Amino acid sequence: MAHAGAYARLLSMRQRPLAAGLTALATLSALFPLPLLSKDPVRAKHGMVVAQERQAADVGVEILKQGGNAVDAAVAVGFALAVTHPQAGNLGGGGFVLIRMADGRRAFLDFREAAPGKATRDMYLGPDGKPTRDSLVGWRASGVPGSVKGLGEAHAKFGTKKWAELVAPSVKLAREGFPVDEGLANALSEGTKSLSTDPESIRIFLRGGHGYQLGEIIKQPDLAATLGRIAQNGPQDFYEGATAHKIAQQMSAHGGLITLDDLKNYKVIERAPLEGDYKGYHLILPPPPSAGGVGVLQMLGMLDGTKFTAEGPDSAMAVHFMAEAMRRFYADRSEYLGDPDFYNVPVKMLLDPKYIERRRAGIDPEHATPSDLVEPGLPRALAAHVSQIESSETTHFDIVDEQGNAVSLTYTLNAYFGNGVTIPGTGILLNNEMDDFAAKPGSPNMFGVIGGEANAIEPGKRPLSSMTPTIITRDGKLFMVVGAPGGSRITTGVLQVIVDVIDFHMNPQDAVDLPRFHHQWKPDTLFLQKNFDRGVEAKLTQMGYIIKPIEGVARVEAIVVKDGSLEGGTESRLWGKASGY
Ligand code: GLY
Repeated sequence: MAHAGAYARLLSMRQRPLAAGLTALATLSALFPLPLLSKDPVRAKHGMVVAQERQAADVGVEILKQGGNAVDAAVAVGFALAVTHPQAGNLGGGGFVLIRMADGRRAFLDFREAAPGKATRDMYLGPDGKPTRDSLVGWRASGVPGSVKGLGEAHAKFGTKKWAELVAPSVKLAREGFPVDEGLANALSEGTKSLSTDPESIRIFLRGGHGYQLGEIIKQPDLAATLGRIAQNGPQDFYEGATAHKIAQQMSAHGGLITLDDLKNYKVIERAPLEGDYKGYHLILPPPPSAGGVGVLQMLGMLDGTKFTAEGPDSAMAVHFMAEAMRRFYADRSEYLGDPDFYNVPVKMLLDPKYIERRRAGIDPEHATPSDLVEPGLPRALAAHVSQIESSETTHFDIVDEQGNAVSLTYTLNAYFGNGVTIPGTGILLNNEMDDFAAKPGSPNMFGVIGGEANAIEPGKRPLSSMTPTIITRDGKLFMVVGAPGGSRITTGVLQVIVDVIDFHMNPQDAVDLPRFHHQWKPDTLFLQKNFDRGVEAKLTQMGYIIKPIEGVARVEAIVVKDGSLEGGTESRLWGKASGY
């Protein structure tokens, strides 16, 4: 192998990390390393689903085997994850889906949560003028959910199978239950604090306070009934029907903001995707209110023309140039990006090759540039707000079918289990996506990223997102489908895996397993995954980086088309699955 150091580090990361607070059994199993998995990606000839939860991935492959296309499978996986991966899969959240059909048609559907009609700019400021925690916890933290309508519109546009057949597997999983695996045990443990704030969440997800052991069956009859209504009546049940009435009634009873009108008026917005070229590849990416598309295109533009590939993947040279590109993009993100329906986002200016060239020219090839010297500069005090949180929120899946239709979908409740609230009688967990707005322009959110006026709260507006579902073609043919969960680390994680595949010629399994890093301008910190090479770390420190080790990185998932086959990768240390046939 050309980059033996990087591959040695890959092997060392195949030790499952000891996650704090696992249930007893999960803790025991976490002490033992995974058997060394093959570095080979999963290969399949006909179709593939890569998702963060195994049963949901298999549900998608079943739909493909039954003749459904990638969009049909995406609908089924989207609903299945709401049952089997409740920490992020959802009915009560929102997201983005990017679709590219084999004939070249593409669609980007924005089903991001919207601020309720009663939302106000200062709704999360306390009497002292400082942001409170209300954007994160409790009923007021939720935006109007878009997931059910988003899946509905994707199906109406490109689906081929009956809607009810696609929702049916999730109804069965919720009604009959499924065994709690390590991924869910771990998530329930991490989410206990948040879930414990809500009696309905305690009842369902913490089994009345007794908790679930590995392998025990978790059933969600209320969610099964909700999904059954959605299967029978279509997505409108959630927005105008029985489910909508239940949501609005409970919101009103608990001081939440979402009304029946908010639900009735919620719209999925089809937007033109962003597109750009890099080294002979054509990238299709999400436009604002995702920051991801602008970010990936801007950062690739800054890297193109530097010598960042000269010393191999995860070398000090590669990390340095990539971190400097990240730093510059996140500075722009803090100022210019928000919902384009409410703010004039200067996408063209941000992606202008001359502007990108100027940004690239500002990178010192030998030294880190302190963030305070990168415009737009913000007060030093903000740099003290360190984002050292785990970054496993949100979930992503990729699907390619036999015809070559492709779906890249990321959706989220924001934090693990959202605001921790389950709407009584529905089994629906609510998002806390309002925290992705700038509660006070200039102040950081839970991911430590700063937003400006562009991302201030307004009724009906959608908060800025890092979600970056991406599809890449070469010579007009599908090449790669990629995306990730991980808060503000999504965009940089997706960037790294794209570069690992395109520039460093890695297969998708090695690319997603390679130790990752993240810089987001403020705080002026280079976050390195804990298993990063110590020699590289020392070199980067000499170059002027302030380094912090992190456990959590964006958990990227990817499918690459190679020699007529599909190759899929999902992080070996985690519990996802590349499922193909
Ligand atoms: N809630 C995470 C994101 O949308 O970026």
